[in-house]
Amino acid sequence: MQGGCFGGFPLILAGWSGSSDPSKGRRPLKNKKNASYVKKREAFFLLVCCGRKIMPLCRRILLVMLMPNNYILEQLRKNLSDELFCHCQGVEETAAKLALSLGYSESKARLAGLLHDCAREWPHEKLLDFAREHGIEIDPFALRCPILLHAPVGAALARAWGINDGEVLAAIRNHTLGFPGMTVLEQIVYLADKIEPGRIFSGVEELRVLVAKDFKLGLNQAAAKSIARVLHKNQSLHPLTVSFWNWLVEMR
Ligand SMILES: [Fe+2]
Ligand SMILES: [Fe+2]
Repeated sequence: MQGGCFGGFPLILAGWSGSSDPSKGRRPLKNKKNASYVKKREAFFLLVCCGRKIMPLCRRILLVMLMPNNYILEQLRKNLSDELFCHCQGVEETAAKLALSLGYSESKARLAGLLHDCAREWPHEKLLDFAREHGIEIDPFALRCPILLHAPVGAALARAWGINDGEVLAAIRNHTLGFPGMTVLEQIVYLADKIEPGRIFSGVEELRVLVAKDFKLGLNQAAAKSIARVLHKNQSLHPLTVSFWNWLVEMR
């Protein structure tokens, strides 16, 4: 067992069970009371050591149970190129780290991060057709630029794949334009999408440092950069993005 996944755990077990000579290397036991005390103390250390080793294991098992099943992963792989799948995994990992730093649910952050762009590579016509069929609003912005629909369509698609957590679906739905009054999960996914390791735009490293220091300030900065890019191209801002920005400013 030694050297297995439980590391030093077997050594403690051997000491506790007494192996060949329980008194070897220890003060001799004077009476039964002492023997009972030593056993209790060893049991305590055993529990502490087991706890340290088992807790991360339990967490991993729980994560595996909560993570998308093979069906969802298969669907995701079918809908994404390798490059975009890699981006989604980057967002998943970044969202998980942000969630842990904020004391938020890591599993929800992972799920929303992984699925956020599930409809990102659909052709425009397919996005428009799906939106019409599922009663998703197609505003003039989406009509001019159907790729904007990949977020609400993605949320509906994730629901069709069996995801029914409203918070996760909202985080997928609002990751592109932003939304006033975003939940913590929506903020996490919005930000993770901007700073995942695959992003290489100018200033991204500074943004990552800022996010690590101050999540709210990092979110403001990420939104400001995203809006600045739209303005730089002389394009109009979606009303939701304007409301999102105003909300961020008021929240400072
Ligand atoms: Fe997206
Ligand atoms: Fe993305």
